[in-house]
Amino acid sequence: MTLFETSSMSVAFGGLRAVDNVDIAVEKGKLVGLIGPNGAGKTTFIDGVTGFVPTTGRIMLDGKDISSSPAHRRAAAGLGRTWQSLELFDDLTIEENLQVAAENQTLATFIADAFLPLRSRDHSGVQFALDVLGISNLRGRMPNELSQGQRKLVSAARALAGRPKLLCMDEPAAGLDTQESQQLGLRLRDIIDAGITILLVDHDMGLVLNVCDYIYVIEFGHKIAEGTPSQIKKDPAVIKAYLGSASQESND
Ligand SMILES: Nc1ncnc2c1ncn2[C@@H]1O[C@H](COP(=O)(O)OP(=O)(O)O)[C@@H](O)[C@H]1O
Ligand SMILES: [Mg+2]
Repeated sequence: MTLFETSSMSVAFGGLRAVDNVDIAVEKGKLVGLIGPNGAGKTTFIDGVTGFVPTTGRIMLDGKDISSSPAHRRAAAGLGRTWQSLELFDDLTIEENLQVAAENQTLATFIADAFLPLRSRDHSGVQFALDVLGISNLRGRMPNELSQGQRKLVSAARALAGRPKLLCMDEPAAGLDTQESQQLGLRLRDIIDAGITILLVDHDMGLVLNVCDYIYVIEFGHKIAEGTPSQIKKDPAVIKAYLGSASQESND
């Protein structure tokens, strides 16, 4: 079953088409990768999907057209995301950071809280997220006590605490060493096993080729390839895009 689908989705910044007519589909229960060199439009794609920048084209989640819904409605409909930069609240414990995310107040819950202050809140999403990522032991710690790898897991947990149907992750492996990145890969599989579907964005081919079921590749806003990891590995357009950006970087 297709959980998530974009059709001809585009994002324009003035004259720049940062995402240009991109079609992708994500099957429920799968770990799907979206890769591409720096500046390819990956973050812009997630921003468009989650409602943080205007898009054209169609975005479907679980059979509903969410293309014109505001960001908070998309989140309530089951679209979760992590951010490329880790913005944790430094004065809150890890558990409190997750609670803030899980509460995700709507007007209805705000009014309910005002009239029913003793209503016991549902923090099961927080426990779920801590358990899935294996970081229950960090619940009472402060963000500045954590390693970069642990902070990445907390950032993923924060998005999971809202129990999304689809979790969009923007470069969760950036800044991790090889071992931490491999461990993150295992955790991503645990998230899938817990029934949540993932769209994993990264420019690092290693993690994506190792863990994803299916991969889309974009360059300059265009989709240039899609397939299984073994198909992507030998795709001439992908090899060219990555060799091109590698030689560019070494010239910088
Ligand atoms: N808010 C913005 N305004 C104008 N241009 C932007 C904005 N955000 C991103 N871009 C441009 O869009 C392109 C894609 O950027 P981005 O989505 O961040 O790429 P990636 O995440 O793949 O590295 C780049 O050329 C970038 O400079
Ligand atoms: Mg990015």
